[in-house]
Amino acid sequence: MQLEGRVAIVTGAAGGIGLATARALLREGARVMLAGRHQDTLDRARTELERDAPAQHIATGTCDVAHEDQVQDLVRATLRQFGRWDVAVNNAGVMHFKPIAEQVADDWRATLDVDLIGAFHLIKHAFLLMEGGGAVVNVSSVHACATEQLVAPYAAAKAALLSLTRSAAIEGKPKRIRVNAVVPGAIDTPMLWDNPNVKSGAETIDPADVGAPGDVAAAIVFLASPQAAFVNGSALLVDGGRLAHL
Ligand SMILES: NC(=O)c1ccc[n+]([C@@H]2O[C@H](COP(=O)([O-])OP(=O)(O)OC[C@H]3O[C@@H](n4cnc5c(N)ncnc54)[C@H](O)[C@@H]3O)[C@@H](O)[C@H]2O)c1
Repeated sequence: MQLEGRVAIVTGAAGGIGLATARALLREGARVMLAGRHQDTLDRARTELERDAPAQHIATGTCDVAHEDQVQDLVRATLRQFGRWDVAVNNAGVMHFKPIAEQVADDWRATLDVDLIGAFHLIKHAFLLMEGGGAVVNVSSVHACATEQLVAPYAAAKAALLSLTRSAAIEGKPKRIRVNAVVPGAIDTPMLWDNPNVKSGAETIDPADVGAPGDVAAAIVFLASPQAAFVNGSALLVDGGRLAHL
């Protein structure tokens, strides 16, 4: 077990990639704080995870990552519950769909507040309170590199998250906190299939290019683990080779 005794916070942990990541971290021996906006969905996730992991290794905390005070409370609750904190996974994300010509600044804020500033909040508090060093993993997207119509704020937020990953890797180094990102492609969660671009066919997805939440979780666990001790500031593409196509 690569993460025995370590404590992780996973945001957006109630389903999809976040839930798969919590499961993978628990399998490696970590204790995990599941963070999300709604207690009922966190409770359901907890019940599911308890089938394979000790109940005392799992905690839940409601938190809207867009609000720094809520992120700070989440970190304090984690330290109270588990006594330490070693891994932060910035997985919470939202995607809104609108043509640029119809957008207003609040449309941008609604996405950036979660996908970029939410990650900044947890990184900031990791730098303040992750006293024994540790690892941060940010969940970006292939939209950071190539994108589609209607999702300009999401694409910009995910690209900026890669930039934040580099900046934070530099400032985290003296604190022995590594900061990396995963860059998932099409992953089999409702976020993929509810996407209007996918539904309309504007974005075509070869079934061979669709990964499972566990595929991203495995990359996150690697980046969080001592195996990645010399990996810092990197962006690991987890897309089954989709972006490599001409
Ligand atoms: N599914 C894909 O194809 C895909 C591809 C690339 C990147 N991603 C990224 O992976 C991450 C997880 O996505 P997913 O596919 O599992 O979808 P998802 O919708 O299941 O996961 C997003 C989670 O974030 C939570 N969340 C949203 N706003 C929040 C807030 N303000 N505070 C706290 N939590 C909040 C949601 O409740 C949800 O649990 C997201 O960052 C997404 O952008 C997904």
